[in-house]
Amino acid sequence: MMIDPNMLSDPIERAADILSQAKSVVALTGAGISVESGIPPFRGKGGLWEKMDPMEVAHIDAFIENPERVWNLLIKEMKTVLDRARPNPAHTGLVDLERLGKLATVITQNVDGLHQAAGSSDVIEFHGNFAWQRCTECGQLHPTAEVDIARIPPQCDCGGILRPDCVFFGEMIPTEAMVRSQQISSGCDVMLVIGTSAMVQPAASMPFIARENGARIIEINPEPTPLTGRISNLPLMGDAGRIMPQLVEAVKERLDSP
Ligand code: APR
Repeated sequence: MMIDPNMLSDPIERAADILSQAKSVVALTGAGISVESGIPPFRGKGGLWEKMDPMEVAHIDAFIENPERVWNLLIKEMKTVLDRARPNPAHTGLVDLERLGKLATVITQNVDGLHQAAGSSDVIEFHGNFAWQRCTECGQLHPTAEVDIARIPPQCDCGGILRPDCVFFGEMIPTEAMVRSQQISSGCDVMLVIGTSAMVQPAASMPFIARENGARIIEINPEPTPLTGRISNLPLMGDAGRIMPQLVEAVKERLDSP
């Protein structure tokens, strides 16, 4: 039963109709998708950058100048929050879409590893992953869970200072993540943009690339963003943890009733 998308007033129903007919779906996620897992966002209500200047605590130059300060002001707290975070229904909703054959890849700006923990099988980590700390001298990777933060900044066996295996402001995006994200964004016919303020480049260019290549952009966010109404054709305004299960249910109904 194919419903004319224009006949449906409910945006979730319209989004489900688009997704159920889609051939190649990709998701771009940001900090907002993990808010319901207890991880604060960076911008907007309760945002980390409302309390501290990212250039002071999350820029590579700030880390090089004073790693102890960056560890004490940012990284220690991140470790505590991420250690106890678990996937929420927004993450598991993306896994359900993948299992319905309606999502291929998640491009995430998040470093919390929650998409993989939820079961997503193809995740591009645009800003790296906080699960690992890298030695600034020898490059050895250490599982963050095993790093003793009684001593700040923590050190490698070689004496080098450890840093998160994430992208600081002022650093390049890992080449493979960048190239794959651009390719996948240009080849999809639907992009789900979930929980991002779309303020940080080059991640925020992915919806533009998708749109330029004819994709429909469905945006899930309780607040409007620079994409809303310009790039995203269909904003679903609300919390991702509430919207995603409803969206998955509506897609399932369509796929079960040919
Ligand atoms: N569900 C969906 N979206 C939400 C929710 C929720 N429950 N709660 C908040 N949001 C939205 C906010 O309205 C905001 O638009 O999530 C977005 C979070 O925006 P940011 O905190 O800016 O996160 P993000 O877009 O991922 O930031 C990009 O900036 O500081 C860097 O490296 C950091 O990867 C990060 C990048």
